[in-house]
This record gives sequence, C-alpha cells and structure tokens, in this order.
Amino acid sequence: MRSLRLSVIDRCDLRCRYCMPEESYAWLPKSDILSFDEIERAVSLFAELGVDRVRITGGEPLLRPHLEELVARIADMPSIRDLALTTNGTQLAQRAVALRHAGLQRITISLDSLRRDRLEQLTRRDPLASVLSGIDAAAAAGFDALKINTVVMRGFNDDEIIDLLEYGKRVGGEVRFIEYMDVGGATHWSQGEVVTRRDLLALLEQHYGPIAADGPQGAAPAARFRLQDGTRFGIIASVSQPFCGTCDRSRLTADGMWYLCLYASAGHDLRTHLRAHQQPEALLDYLRATWNGRQERGAEQRLEDPARGALFAIEDLREDPHREMHTRGG
Ligand code: GTP
Ligand code: 5AD
Ligand code: SF4
Repeated sequence: MRSLRLSVIDRCDLRCRYCMPEESYAWLPKSDILSFDEIERAVSLFAELGVDRVRITGGEPLLRPHLEELVARIADMPSIRDLALTTNGTQLAQRAVALRHAGLQRITISLDSLRRDRLEQLTRRDPLASVLSGIDAAAAAGFDALKINTVVMRGFNDDEIIDLLEYGKRVGGEVRFIEYMDVGGATHWSQGEVVTRRDLLALLEQHYGPIAADGPQGAAPAARFRLQDGTRFGIIASVSQPFCGTCDRSRLTADGMWYLCLYASAGHDLRTHLRAHQQPEALLDYLRATWNGRQERGAEQRLEDPARGALFAIEDLREDPHREMHTRGG
C-alpha cells in the first residue's frame, strides 16, 4: 500500500455521461463527511503503513470549501512525497495559484473534448471555456506535472485524439487516454463504446508514425508512450489490459469508507473507527489486517467475463451511493 486516493466530496458541478448519467443522486449526509482533522489523522495512519503518495479526488474536489487548507496540511507531512489532485478544472482559473502555494505538487485535469457542443452534450453543462482557462492557469502556476485525462468513447470523441494530443503539447500537459470503464456510475456502459489501447495506438500511429513505449509501467495505471518528436502521452487500459497485479492503491471516500479496489462492492467503515477515539496502535492494527486480507482484483475479473455489462445497475447504486465513481474518487 503506497498510494491513497482521497475523495474529499461526493458532489460535482458536471454530469459526465460515463460517471453521473442519472437525473438525481443520493448524496452523502453532511454529518458523515470527515473533517479536515479527521482526514489528517487518517492520512497520518496510512503514512505510517507506507503510503507516500496522496491524490485528492471528488466528485469535484474544488467544491470542498477551503481545500487549500487541507492541501497545506498534507503537504506538510514529511512522509508524503507526492501530493496530486484530479479535477474537472471548472474552478481552476481562480484556484490554481493558491493550490500551488499550499504545496500541491501535481495536477490532472479531465478534458474529453475540445468542442464546446460535444462537451455540453457529455457533461450536461457548458464547461469548455472555464476548463480551458483553468488549464492555462494550472500551466502558468508551475506545477511539477500537468496531465490531461481524456476518456475515449467510440463514436463520440475518438476522432479528436490527435487534436487533444496537439492541444496537450501546446499547454505543456501530458495527455492520458482512458478506456471507458464499466465502473459504478457508468450505468450505460457497453463494450462497443470502449476504444482499446490497441485501437488508440493504431489510430495514433496512422497519423504520427511509429510510437515507442516509454519506460516500465510500474504501479501506475497509465502505460507511457513517446512520439518521434519526443511528446509523451499515456494510455490507461483498465478494460483491455488491467493492472490489478501491480496495484498499490486504496481509496477513502469523503465520509470515511475505505475501499481496497475501484470495483469493490463494499468498503470498510474507517469513519466509525476514527470517531471511536481508539489508540493509534489499534487503528493501525485494523488497517494492516484489512489490507493484508485484500483479495480484490476487480478489473481482471471483469476481463475474464467478457459478456458482462455495466458493473452496477441504477438500483444497486441507489442502494449504496458509495458504489458511485463520483463517491469513490475515480
Ligand atoms: P498518476 O499519479 O499521475 O499516475 O495518476 P492516476 O492516473 O492514478 O490518477 P487519475 O485520477 O488521473 O486517474 C486516471 C484514470 O485511472 C481514471 O479513469 C481512474 O479511474 C483510473 N484509475 C485510477 N486508479 C485505478 C485503479 O486502481 N484501477 C483501475 N482499474 N483504474 C484506476
Ligand atoms: N471510465 C473511465 N474513466 C472514468 N472517469 C470517470 N468515470 C470513468 C469511466 N466510467 C475518469 C474521469 C477522471 C478520472 C478521475 O476518472 O474522467 O479523469
Ligand atoms: Fe465528470 Fe468527474 Fe464530475 Fe464525474 S466527478 S461528473 S467524471 S467531472
């Protein structure tokens, strides 16, 4: 266990079709949301067990009030050597500088299309202008790394991958193409809409010529590649080539449920443990024992069952909103 994905809020200002396609959602009750003190305690416990990378996620993490304060607290922990944020970028024009000053090291922004009408169709809002100015602000704020996440969907944005890669070059961001996953929230997922890593490389090679692999993948979800002009990009092939075997990640939801896998149907109630004022040693024992019992390898199991549709039906999600991608932090 080296990496923690920390969701700080389940809400979002967008409604991406692959994540929040439904009309209404059950939100986590406010009283269950962990305070910054509680989150800080949790992160310190994980750090004692070997976690040295934290990625802040949502929902949309910038909707959590005063997020910069939490960033500063985590950035101050000596054992956390990598602090990153995944955001939809809509608020970033106003927040990038403050986040950088608070100690955020890396930032990843989701951008699935450069066409205003398409993004509007995908997100059921009209975010292109604010996201693009958010990306400009992040580029100017001087983060150690700027990445752009694009979920590729057949017949929707697979004709934009070159444009997006060229856009990434212009702003100094590393684009990562993500296979559309069948995870919680993606209730309308179908295998036919997945553009696989193989398809993507073939499309890109047609345009750019031979593409080289760029170093070993390690525990990262993205495999990295290099164009002949040196441009680097990544592909996250969760569907066609899952990477469960090297996964060193767990997830904490905003209300303190701990998930050992993106695909897990149930999590572990860390909030109750945190609020019971147990001694740190007892909490560490609980975390250690739970992690050691980890069996999950959700994406590999999915691959073994090609006939399977979306992971959860809407009724399953309503039964437990923790199954949503926007609750467990992507
Ligand atoms: P880096 O620290 O830059 O490697 O970030 P990251 O790629 O881990 O984070 P990001 O939030 O940008 O996630 C990119 C994509 O990878 C999203 O679609 C995630 O849902 C997916 N992803 C992240 N972790 C996992 C995982 O454990 N399993 C699977 N299958 N997908 C994951
Ligand atoms: N498939 C692939 N990626 C997804 N994300 C959200 N839902 C899905 C899905 N069904 C991505 C977002 C964001 C990241 C955290 O997860 O686009 O970039
Ligand atoms: Fe889109 Fe991310 Fe919001 Fe989900 S949480 S609706 S993927 S912006």
